[in-house]
Amino acid sequence: IFLFYLYLLFKKNLAVSCVSVELNPGLTPPSVLPPGVGLVHVRGLGLNDTLHFLLCNHGAPALLMVHTYSTQSAVQVDWPSFINRSSSGSLRVEPQTSVRYSSALVFTRVWEYDDVNNTADPQQAAESSFYPPYELQNFIWSDLNETVNQSDLTVKLCGGEKTESFLNGSLCLQFSAFESEGRDKAWPSLHHNANSSQLHVWLEGVTPRGNRSRFALEFQSVGDSGFQGRVDVHSSIDDEYTPSIFKVSQWVSFPENSSGVWGYNQWKPVAYRKAEPVFEDTTPCKHSQLVSMKRIPQSGLVQAYFTEDPQTYGLNISFGIDKDPVLYSDTKYISWTVLVGMGEPPADSFSTLIIIIIAVGLGTPLVIIIVGGGFVWIRKRRSHSSGYEPII
Ligand SMILES: *[C@@H]1O[C@H](CO)[C@@H](O)[C@H](O)[C@H]1NC(C)=O
Ligand SMILES: *[C@@H]1O[C@H](CO)[C@@H](O)[C@H](O)[C@H]1NC(C)=O
Ligand SMILES: *[C@@H]1O[C@H](CO)[C@@H](O)[C@H](O)[C@H]1NC(C)=O
Ligand SMILES: *[C@@H]1O[C@H](CO)[C@@H](O)[C@H](O)[C@H]1NC(C)=O
Ligand SMILES: *[C@@H]1O[C@H](CO)[C@@H](O)[C@H](O)[C@H]1NC(C)=O
Ligand SMILES: *[C@@H]1O[C@H](CO)[C@@H](O)[C@H](O)[C@H]1NC(C)=O
Ligand SMILES: *[C@@H]1O[C@H](CO)[C@@H](O)[C@H](O)[C@H]1NC(C)=O
Ligand SMILES: *[C@@H]1O[C@H](CO)[C@@H](O)[C@H](O)[C@H]1NC(C)=O
Ligand SMILES: *[C@@H]1O[C@H](CO)[C@@H](O)[C@H](O)[C@H]1NC(C)=O
Ligand SMILES: *[C@@H]1O[C@H](CO)[C@@H](O)[C@H](O)[C@H]1NC(C)=O
Repeated sequence: IFLFYLYLLFKKNLAVSCVSVELNPGLTPPSVLPPGVGLVHVRGLGLNDTLHFLLCNHGAPALLMVHTYSTQSAVQVDWPSFINRSSSGSLRVEPQTSVRYSSALVFTRVWEYDDVNNTADPQQAAESSFYPPYELQNFIWSDLNETVNQSDLTVKLCGGEKTESFLNGSLCLQFSAFESEGRDKAWPSLHHNANSSQLHVWLEGVTPRGNRSRFALEFQSVGDSGFQGRVDVHSSIDDEYTPSIFKVSQWVSFPENSSGVWGYNQWKPVAYRKAEPVFEDTTPCKHSQLVSMKRIPQSGLVQAYFTEDPQTYGLNISFGIDKDPVLYSDTKYISWTVLVGMGEPPADSFSTLIIIIIAVGLGTPLVIIIVGGGFVWIRKRRSHSSGYEPII
């Protein structure tokens, strides 16, 4: 166990990459972005490759991930047409031949419905119980510039509409990049590594429009043509990092002719009803079927980057469970977290503590059985040799 622990420590330290954060790369006057809008570029340098993450709230907020087989690859933005959203191709990663894989996650809408039957399932709700969705592409955002934390590798983005519902409320996204493997202290404590980044999304203080309002978050994934998507749900027997949650969902992307996974969005089917939740503030969430979208979403970043016939899929994450006694209006808060990365999604493994507990828990009875069995066997042999003398 001690050696195993040393191995884990060593393994952790190996996967460190060099990460840098840059705001609006190459933007110079007279070009100016609309108020509150920004483009954050996070660059993770590997030994032979570079992983770029780009976060932008020009239109619907989007996170673009580009993996290149080059340590020299750089982001190039033609700012006048990027700001104008007039042409695709205004944001590129150069040299374009080094680009191995790219995909984007876009948050498009927040759906609200009056859950009169208390099913917490928007697919069972009558069409008339839906309110007009909040279109994230029309949101007004707080200044992104002030929330970029270079040492923490985080960016916070909060926005809303100019409506009564959002007077005291906002929708926020917290982006985090990572230099090495680990977990956030805050639940759901997803297992991240240097090949991934995380988005924590929360809706806070928004006045519900119905008496029994529940919400769902719609997001879309845009990727290179030739790739397919599917959502897998894996079960685990361990809920050590995310109490009471034994499942992990991952929306993976794989090439049409192969089964190897190239990129993923991974989440646990759980949401929290308070900013600093205790166990009682946990609520399940569920995802709808993947649907193929005809158009790419209204995100300036996605429109600027993808030029050749990209593929777009969407799904909804809805919060709450059938007969859930707690409504959104009780806490006016709901949060959910997703990990975005390339390669195989990280898997939860047993911690050293759990391994010791299992070893002791299984080992002790085993030792008792072996020792006890041996004792009984010896006694039997003894009684054998004394009790049954062969009769000639
Ligand atoms: C980096 O690339 C070089 C040449 O392509 C190769 O020899 C080397 O094994 C690669 N290193 C890693 C860590 O992949
Ligand atoms: C932006 O687009 C408008 C029309 O779509 C055009 O008239 C204008 O010249 C463009 N501006 C720049 C800087 O490209
Ligand atoms: C409530 O459930 C009934 C029966 O399943 C259904 O007919 C009705 O449309 C539901 N109402 C709403 C508002 O979803
Ligand atoms: C962003 O903030 C930094 C300081 O935090 C400031 O120097 C810079 O001018 C700001 N940039 C813009 C575009 O507002
Ligand atoms: C960045 O985050 C660290 C750790 O949370 C904090 O100590 C620091 O003040 C933050 N810096 C800025 C500029 O917000
Ligand atoms: C917004 O907050 C203020 C003060 O906390 C409160 O007086 C007001 O009623 C709230 N408005 C809404 C629409 O919730
Ligand atoms: C990250 O991706 C690189 C390149 O595909 C791979 O060599 C490395 O093992 C990955 N690291 C982790 C922690 O998965
Ligand atoms: C909400 O409940 C109040 C009182 O119970 C009722 O007067 C009102 O019509 C209800 N609103 C909606 C949208 O159902
Ligand atoms: C997949 O295989 C088919 C036929 O085997 C081929 O026509 C197609 O181009 C391949 N697609 C990719 C992305 O390689
Ligand atoms: C999300 O749910 C709403 C309401 O049921 C539906 O209209 C929309 O098509 C769904 N979006 C996706 C991507 O499934």
